[in-house]
Amino acid sequence: MSIFPNKLNTIAKITNSYLRSFFSRQKNKSYLLKPMKYGIFSGGKRFRSAIVVNTGKIYGVDFKKLIIIGSAIECIHSYSLIHDDLPAMDNDELRRGKLSVHKKFNEFTAILAGNSLLTLAFEILAGKDLQLSQNSKNELIKTLSSCAGHAGLAGGQYYDLTFENKNILKKNIINMQKKKTGELFGFCCESIAIIKGTSFAKRKKLKEIGINIGLLFQIVDDLIDFKGDSIIVGKPTRSDEKKGKATLVNLLGYEETINYAENLKKKIDHQIKKYGSKANDLLDSVEFILKRDF
Ligand code: IPE
Ligand code: IPE
Ligand code: MG
Ligand code: MG
Ligand code: MG
Repeated sequence: MSIFPNKLNTIAKITNSYLRSFFSRQKNKSYLLKPMKYGIFSGGKRFRSAIVVNTGKIYGVDFKKLIIIGSAIECIHSYSLIHDDLPAMDNDELRRGKLSVHKKFNEFTAILAGNSLLTLAFEILAGKDLQLSQNSKNELIKTLSSCAGHAGLAGGQYYDLTFENKNILKKNIINMQKKKTGELFGFCCESIAIIKGTSFAKRKKLKEIGINIGLLFQIVDDLIDFKGDSIIVGKPTRSDEKKGKATLVNLLGYEETINYAENLKKKIDHQIKKYGSKANDLLDSVEFILKRDF
């Protein structure tokens, strides 16, 4: 593979250092800061932040702005994982190689720390570190709210849980995954169009690319659940089958899901190549999704 893992690591470090500085500037020192930090500074790949950075490169967006937007997205992502692990949802005790937040603390603390990470994302976007026009910031906040809410991530998680142990059509599984994981990735790419004030058509195209990247990412997460090593992944594996999750792996089998993922990757590559050589890092990010084992 290329040097993408090194680049990802660098973006992760810079994202973490922005987040640490944002946390250190919180005026009210509530108890919840502890479980929030436990949940967010626990070794996530910061892959969503990398998608923001690498999409931003296509349009030459200032790096600091990209890191701030990536940090906000990572707050929402970490909130979603804290809630995803709760007994009412996937009931998993291991996350990023450590106890899940509700195991380390307790359930109500995990719910509230998750809520607080969700709202922190909007505090970051609205704050003065992000130097953009009020109009752009408003549009970023509005768009991210809808990607995270009932029509996006939360709505997708609702489908994921209600689909358990049922026969679900392939198109409905894909629709669920585009919501629970795709929408947030969609925002990673769409945020660049918002900052640059592109045409509606270009914005829609970037969002679509992001959603497809998210779909591919989730399909590979399901493949890793099926075949991966829990120690390397830092979370339980072989658990989707036990829970009766509606995944492509459970519906089509391992080999056919790999084929589906490879075809989806080709489609995404084709869409990205239209942006020319400035999109090479974004192409490398997509390459990483299929090759990763964690
Ligand atoms: C895991 O996401 C959950 C999914 C949406 C598939 P990541 O694999 O990005 O998790 P971290 O942030 O690196 O732990
Ligand atoms: C999580 O999907 C998607 C979210 C939006 C949180 P999974 O339930 O497959 O994620 P893991 O495998 O627990 O990380
Ligand atoms: Mg889940
Ligand atoms: Mg889960
Ligand atoms: Mg999974």
